[in-house]
Amino acid sequence: MEWFDDHKKLFLAALLLFVGLTVLVAIIPALKNERINQALPGAEPLSQDAIAGKYIYIANGCVGCHTQQVRNVDMDKMWGQRPSMAADYALIRRTDFWRNTATLMGTERTGPDLTNVGTRQGNKEWNLTHLFNPRILVKESVMPAYPWLFEIKKEPAQGDVVVNVPAEYLKGIDGKVVATKEALQLVAYLQSLKQAKLPDQIIAPEFLYKKAKTEATAGSDGAATEIDGAELYGIHCQACHQANGEGLPGAFPPLKGSKVVLDDNIDLYVDIIMNGYTARESEGYGPMLAVGTNANLSPEEVAAIMNHERTSWGNNAKKVTPDDVKKVLEAIKSEKK
Ligand code: HEC
Ligand code: HEC
Repeated sequence: MEWFDDHKKLFLAALLLFVGLTVLVAIIPALKNERINQALPGAEPLSQDAIAGKYIYIANGCVGCHTQQVRNVDMDKMWGQRPSMAADYALIRRTDFWRNTATLMGTERTGPDLTNVGTRQGNKEWNLTHLFNPRILVKESVMPAYPWLFEIKKEPAQGDVVVNVPAEYLKGIDGKVVATKEALQLVAYLQSLKQAKLPDQIIAPEFLYKKAKTEATAGSDGAATEIDGAELYGIHCQACHQANGEGLPGAFPPLKGSKVVLDDNIDLYVDIIMNGYTARESEGYGPMLAVGTNANLSPEEVAAIMNHERTSWGNNAKKVTPDDVKKVLEAIKSEKK
């Protein structure tokens, strides 16, 4: 056949086939993807500071231990309100001309997933102290310290953000620990990590493979299952108020001996857990966020946490019931209307 002897025709045919297939399997699907893959209406683009912080996150290798993807399996439920979906990553653009899109979904979870950490741990002071040395706040943490994100200053200037570091961690340091611009940008990035709400008409994918409830927990007498308040305290409160209930001087108030915790009237106590607290900012404490609401705590769980706090570390107050908590929650709700 003459056609096979003509190298020009052969080359042209191969080229056309290659280009045609590229359009079909790569370019058209990519264009279609761009059209249908939009960010959720509630998603906010990163601020300039948060973008700078993201590069510091990359430069310090945080992705080596932290994921940013909530998988649709039951064990991931604690990291977000719903499993992550493609739209969650739609706002992430190419890093620059030379570098690809950095979604930072990660593959290794030595530390917690950070998809929703801005909601869970949005406290700036906590994050700064934690970056300076995680062990100040979480005794058994294996996360490295990042001292190079901080400066030591004898006399901090006005506007400097001084980090709350207990004396025992200041050995050999002469001066105050001040956050660098990089540390503040990194924290701005961490605080921006929040799972956007789905629009009302869209149903979130389900978490699969739920642990089957054992017969024993159902309880034939209809009694509620025993919820472990100490464990819940460890998950939701301990990072700030500490295992010994003593908090961190100047940053997080003690719950040991706290009037609010021990009071017979639990209105304020429940309100603080569900809706946060700022009344003690003049004493140098930062705000407490709406920890209970953000974590979707049920009245049963709130009561269990309260009972743990009311009966630990020498605290000795009457136990409360889930019904007591429900009553306060309803009162707060109708007050807000
Ligand atoms: C060697 C693994 C490792 C590396 C690297 C690492 N972390 Fe962590 N991180 C952890 C572990 C483990 C925890 C849980 C214990 C704790 O809170 O300290 C954690 C906790 C956290 C938390 C609190 C999460 C929560 O749910 O309360 C934040 C925020 C965080 N890390 C941010 C960072 C940032 C930012 C970097 C990079 C500068 C980083 N981590 C690097 C292991 C790591
Ligand atoms: C991110 C850090 C953080 C977490 C997590 C946290 N708190 Fe707080 N909490 C604070 C701060 C800061 C204050 C002081 C707020 C202010 O300025 O008024 C506070 C205040 C309180 C108070 C008032 C104490 C008093 O004597 O005035 C109670 C009670 C309390 N928290 C309970 C809880 C419980 C229960 C949890 C867990 C469900 C929890 N907190 C989780 C930071 C935190």
